[in-house]
Amino acid sequence: MACRQCEGIEAFFDDGVARRELRRYRRKGVGGTTRILLEALRSPSAGTGVAGRSFLDIGGGVGAIQHELMAAGATHGTHADASPAYLDAARSEGERRGHADRVRYVLGDFVDVADDIEPADVVTLDRVVCCYPDMPALVDASASRALESYGLVFPRVTPLTRVAFRILNLVQTLRRHPFHVFLHDTRSVEARVKRHGLHRIYHRETFFWQVMVFQRTSGGARPQPTHA
Ligand SMILES: C[S@@+](CC[C@H](N)C(=O)[O-])C[C@H]1O[C@@H](n2cnc3c(N)ncnc32)[C@H](O)[C@@H]1O
Repeated sequence: MACRQCEGIEAFFDDGVARRELRRYRRKGVGGTTRILLEALRSPSAGTGVAGRSFLDIGGGVGAIQHELMAAGATHGTHADASPAYLDAARSEGERRGHADRVRYVLGDFVDVADDIEPADVVTLDRVVCCYPDMPALVDASASRALESYGLVFPRVTPLTRVAFRILNLVQTLRRHPFHVFLHDTRSVEARVKRHGLHRIYHRETFFWQVMVFQRTSGGARPQPTHA
């Protein structure tokens, strides 16, 4: 991959990290804000739920969201990820669970590969926006592919997260590691999503993170699915 942050993602989320994350997911299941996001997507207030729906999980890591959505009755979907190690781990877990043949695995920076990816009913980015410097480009590329629901987990902007991100980036600079993190302004993220005809139906904050679910406004312009 060309960009410096993408090289950083490959190096940071490597085979060792992917193996550890997959072991933890197999042992403990889904937790934290990922569980909150899944519950919000499955709840009746999210309108359609996930059964019978397609998904697009961007930066899905070892695939907790796709495995849980498939178990909850999703029909098929796409996992796009900039980390080859994460993508392999998600695929191998999907094979073990018997649904990998209904998931398309796409390697790359989502902003670069988005044109080749079909819209889906449910689009998710769980702790991904903070890995990407160009928030508007990532939100535009992903929100425009959400036919019904759009779920985001990203850090709150607080004195704690500001300091934590500064320290992490300082350490990465000192290590000469290309991976950095980005604290994007909450209102700007939300405003960017809303430009795509999506309105917020759920918002929950934890100590560090926030979970938002948006739904396509009825009558709003829907992206055209390319699948049957
Ligand atoms: C912090 S991990 C989160 C993994 C998983 N969603 C979770 O919450 O456990 C960030 C993920 O986003 C992916 N990622 C970051 N920027 C991306 C981009 N522009 N396109 C595709 N994937 C991206 C990384 O490769 C990684 O899988």
